Amino acid sequence: MGARPLLNRRLAGMGTTIFAEMSALATATGSINLGQGFPDTDGPREVAEAAARAVLDGHGNQYPPGPGIPELRTAIAEHQQRFYGLDHDPDHEVLVTAGATEAIAAALLALLEPGDEVIAFEPFYDSYAACIAMAGAVRVPLTLRAPSFRPDLERLRSLITPRTRLLLINTPHNPTGLVLTPDELAVIAELAVEHDLLVVTDEVYEHLVFSGGHHPIAALPGMRERTVSISSAGKTFSFTGWKVGWVTAAPELVSAVRTAKQYLTYVSAGPFQYAVAEALRLPDAYFDTLRADLARKRDLLADGLAEAGFQVFRPEGTYFITADITPLGEKDGPEFCRSLPERCGVVAIPNAVFYDDAEAGRSLVRFTFCKKDEVLREAVQRLRRL
Ligand SMILES: Cc1ncc(COP(=O)(O)O)c(C=O)c1O
Repeated sequence: MGARPLLNRRLAGMGTTIFAEMSALATATGSINLGQGFPDTDGPREVAEAAARAVLDGHGNQYPPGPGIPELRTAIAEHQQRFYGLDHDPDHEVLVTAGATEAIAAALLALLEPGDEVIAFEPFYDSYAACIAMAGAVRVPLTLRAPSFRPDLERLRSLITPRTRLLLINTPHNPTGLVLTPDELAVIAELAVEHDLLVVTDEVYEHLVFSGGHHPIAALPGMRERTVSISSAGKTFSFTGWKVGWVTAAPELVSAVRTAKQYLTYVSAGPFQYAVAEALRLPDAYFDTLRADLARKRDLLADGLAEAGFQVFRPEGTYFITADITPLGEKDGPEFCRSLPERCGVVAIPNAVFYDDAEAGRSLVRFTFCKKDEVLREAVQRLRRL
């Protein structure tokens, strides 16, 4: 081949995701992997059985309908009503996707023109930067800074230009654990209405909020017609490998996102869609127990990290803790994370990879706590060696 690089310039420099690199390091060194966010215990047995039954009974083994099976679209609409009082017509306002990842990609590819600006909280979940780039759009970061990570909403206002098309928000926020308050959401919504912006909101951790609850921005005045809400079964039901996600939005937005989605995967995960439809109807006790268990694990890991010498930012939501390594006499998160498996057999993710402004996250690292208590205890023991 000639001198021209194979990878196109939109994706240049995006390489392998940090999760693949760190998970490979965890395996190679036999370390405890607190890097990638997947639980080490599967979700409810009855939901797994529903998936197995669907396969054996021939439900969803052939291409399911493009927008998702009606049973799941109805269950998603019921879930939005049950938890947030939001009304959605399952036929026109719900779209099933291959995880939230595809929903994000389809939304951005559908709604953006080359050159449009997208304002997103930094640190960002890594697929945001890639999908904005694939759409030929320009990302404009609003940096969340330690210790509170609360967004500077005056700064947000100042970042809006005539080229701004879309606000990409994420609450609860990975990796900081920030949960936007109703007041913050109201300001963001007012700005969106005032400047006629679209909002894409990634709410995959909606059920992992430890106090105060989750508030969807779609419920605020003027937001129904401009918001694409995204969630997924992976985090809520501890089946991250199933990749069943969804979009809820006004019919015109769903129709636009569906247009892109149908040429990405067309359809996905037929039998799992039946199982997720059942999962979404689990009683409140399921969601309460999930949250209470994770709150306990958060405290276990947060206390352990503090004892090991980290500065810990206790998250309000998600299953991640961001910690600062400066008190350990360390400065460089990426270097620290590459040496950590060798030094004490634990894997973490350097937050710097989630920033354009790598300096803003240089000394921050992320640990997940969606692991068995004994695994967390062992990790904490090992980290004390630092
Ligand atoms: C903020 C955020 N959005 C989306 C995803 C991906 O969700 P899914 O596995 O449903 O594609 C993740 C997974 O870690 C995430 O943290």
